[in-house]
Amino acid sequence: MELIEKLKKRRSYREFETETFDIQLLIDAIGAAKYAPSGANKQPWTFCIVKNPEIKKEIRRQAEIAESAFYKKIPLHWQTDLDYLNLTIEKPFLEEAPYLIVVFKQVYQFDSEGNEGKVYYPEMSVGIATGMLITVLTDMGLDLLTYTPSSDGFLTEVLDRPENEKPFIILVVGKGSKNYTLPLVTRKSDEEVIKIY
Ligand SMILES: Cc1cc2nc3c(=O)[nH]c(=O)nc-3n(C[C@H](O)[C@H](O)[C@H](O)COP(=O)(O)O)c2cc1C
Repeated sequence: MELIEKLKKRRSYREFETETFDIQLLIDAIGAAKYAPSGANKQPWTFCIVKNPEIKKEIRRQAEIAESAFYKKIPLHWQTDLDYLNLTIEKPFLEEAPYLIVVFKQVYQFDSEGNEGKVYYPEMSVGIATGMLITVLTDMGLDLLTYTPSSDGFLTEVLDRPENEKPFIILVVGKGSKNYTLPLVTRKSDEEVIKIY
């Protein structure tokens, strides 16, 4: 299938088959995503591939604690905007899917002498690299969920990342469950999103 057609069919899955696949696919995909443009070429990203069931279990445990605290004080407009997804505080996909890719954003870096160095536009740079990664994974025929825990500080601790790295997003990667009913979503028209001058 052409890439454009595959991208038009991309959907977020929240239930996954447990069967695994060769991790090399993810290494190859990240190997392409790291060619993303970045502010002053600082490449301010780290992609942590998690396949260890114990670590996935701990990430799920901590994510559910964060979600349960968040859902107690979620603003009404936010709840309303999420209604179509039927989300709950339970996140079994964090354990079911064979891999999680936890993306970290470096907010500063160290030079070869260990001095702190600046990073420019890390949010945009990591967002672009993550978008490229999602594109390659989709092209490979993999399914995924972009998951943002309501509070994500625990990821730094669980994955033992250094202080200059902040959690950005979790990509839950695998084969979407055949039993998962995709929520109905619509797309804006070309006319709404494209303005030609
Ligand atoms: C930055 C970002 C954060 C998201 N966070 C979550 C999340 O925490 N939980 C979830 O179930 N879906 C999450 N999503 C997925 C969106 O709900 C989904 O992309 C949207 O409903 C459109 O559906 P589709 O991806 O199936 O086309 C997130 C998507 C993005 C881009």
